[in-house]
Amino acid sequence: MLGNFTYCNPTKLYFGQNALDGLNEELPKYGKNVLLVYGGGSIKKNGIYDKVIDILKANKKEIYEDAGVMPNPTVDKLNEGIERAKAAKADLILAVGGGSVCDYAKAVSVSVNCNDDAWDKYFIRFEDVTCDIIPVGCVLTMVGTGSEMNGGSVITNHEQKLKIGHVFGEKVFPKFSVLNPEFTYTLPKYQMVSGIYDIMSHILEQYFSGTDDNTSDYIMEGLLRSLIHSANIAVEKPTDYEARSNIMWIATWALNTLVAKGKTTDWMVHMLGQAVAAYTDATHGMTLAAVSMPYYRYILSYGTAKFARYAVNVWNVNPEGKTEIQIANEGLDIMEAWMKKIGLIMNITELGATKAILDGMVKSTLIMDGGYKVMDADDIRAVLQASF
Ligand code: NZQ
Ligand code: ZN
Repeated sequence: MLGNFTYCNPTKLYFGQNALDGLNEELPKYGKNVLLVYGGGSIKKNGIYDKVIDILKANKKEIYEDAGVMPNPTVDKLNEGIERAKAAKADLILAVGGGSVCDYAKAVSVSVNCNDDAWDKYFIRFEDVTCDIIPVGCVLTMVGTGSEMNGGSVITNHEQKLKIGHVFGEKVFPKFSVLNPEFTYTLPKYQMVSGIYDIMSHILEQYFSGTDDNTSDYIMEGLLRSLIHSANIAVEKPTDYEARSNIMWIATWALNTLVAKGKTTDWMVHMLGQAVAAYTDATHGMTLAAVSMPYYRYILSYGTAKFARYAVNVWNVNPEGKTEIQIANEGLDIMEAWMKKIGLIMNITELGATKAILDGMVKSTLIMDGGYKVMDADDIRAVLQASF
């Protein structure tokens, strides 16, 4: 049965080859000072930076820059960004990049007019946003996180060995996001497939929970089928517009809050992956890929019916003459083979994890209770052990 919920998604999307023109519609809505936030320089190499600057100038904006947002943005960088946004008296934060840049922009947005320490307030105490925010807009260049249409923001504290996400409320969602699939063509294959698996994981985190008959599960099966189909094409031909545009659109729907409505959700793969990243700083989607199979095989017997449904409806397993557990296992086998085929990293050793940090990773893993099995520290240790 669908649980009770409210649903609102305030982000306006501009999608397609001309999506960047949407900036001309959006920029006049905000004051003069724009803080342009971006990463390590990919947007300068592929020309997106120049295009954005031209549009900002044509709209007579005062441009302030905050560059160098790293993948898995850190709390130190966040504190620097807060000062930059203050100094710029920013009226709008324009994030041009992937999930890291969009997440960072949201974290700056909610912290600028706030006297508390941003890390403690939002990522340790998980407090609500009570101060004025600076509006954020995104131009997305890396597909996967869904940050373009949600309130999520994930920050890493290397000193404390924690990588933590906070989901801010509606008012912190990007006011608008520009989604041009062609902007993702220059992504290295490693990043592209990492993003593809991030999308798959977002869907599975929301799919593998509950035993009710829920419309969201049917939507997610459709999203997964389309994702697998398009990923197979994109891996062979990264500039296939049809495939890349479908992947971009699926990413947005995978984590813009819709499919979670009325459902319980799991999110343990993300908690495990974030603990791995807190120690290794590895690429987000790869950390998820590396822990997924050990985790799903660990919890399979607690949610066998759903895993069997997944095998049949997503991976086309023929159920005839097989037990539920056989069907479920066959689905995971096919999924695992597919993950290897598209080039995902399937163990945490390759991501830099060693046995010496096992205890630390166990401690850094937050426990969520919405999945088929509520994990304890021993369960987490067993899954991480199996991920080496
Ligand atoms: O920094 P630059 O030079 O731009 O290079 C980036 C970066 O090295 C590069 N890149 C991005 N667009 C490119 C490109 N290279 C060539 N051509 C392009 N068009 O890709 C690298 C990775 O970028 P990043 O933004 O880090 O990737 P992603 O989008 O996967 O974001 C990862 C962050 O998002 C968080 C993750 O934990 C991680 O910190 N997440 C955010 C979520 C949310 N807001 O809801 C949910 C997710 O589960 C996730 O946790
Ligand atoms: Zn993710």
